[in-house]
Amino acid sequence: KRLVVLVSGSGTNLQALLDAIETAGPEAYGAEIVAVGADRAGIEGLARAERAGIPTFVRRVKDHDTRDAWDAALAEAVAAYEPDLVVSAGFMKIVGKVFLARFGGRFVNTHPALLPSFPGAHGVRDALAYGARVTGCTVHFVDDGVDTGPIIAQGVVEVREEDYEDEGAALHERIKEVERKLLVDVVGRLARNGYRIEGRKVVIQ
Ligand code: GRF
Repeated sequence: KRLVVLVSGSGTNLQALLDAIETAGPEAYGAEIVAVGADRAGIEGLARAERAGIPTFVRRVKDHDTRDAWDAALAEAVAAYEPDLVVSAGFMKIVGKVFLARFGGRFVNTHPALLPSFPGAHGVRDALAYGARVTGCTVHFVDDGVDTGPIIAQGVVEVREEDYEDEGAALHERIKEVERKLLVDVVGRLARNGYRIEGRKVVIQ
């Protein structure tokens, strides 16, 4: 299966996928990353792709007259690689209706909180501020909401007293350790086994 991965930052989730595919081999893993896209240039996530010899592309919102024009341009850029599955690994933009029309049902996102709790761009900070005793991460299909699509898998992370001292930086790192393993496992199973989405339920064969 062909994967396109979208990033916006350090790309450690991308790196986990790269390492897993390298270790197992694309055939055994069930997928290969054919391109990495981003909404901004000069980020470590793109450098990781370049080091792995994987084609990259950047589509910045500010380079387009409207948000919808950016959405269509992103969809075109992704479609050029003919992916079977698109993975948002720390991609920090909400895609629009053109992108979802093309890739809905095969577009997976990872979020650093236990959805439906704490959706949006500050899931770690929000869980901490709320006083949650456990939080974690969620891998889900993207739908037309923000972090609202059908859940595929979740991982739990305990909140510790010292997490209140660094605005959740250590907590996010602990979440990312679980998240990287969860994403690698889920993407591999989706690619190898195939899946069905039945309402809010995801069935992996
Ligand atoms: C991940 O925790 C992701 O869930 C969140 O931002 C982080 C991205 O980390 N949206 P990285 O870029 O994969 O290192």
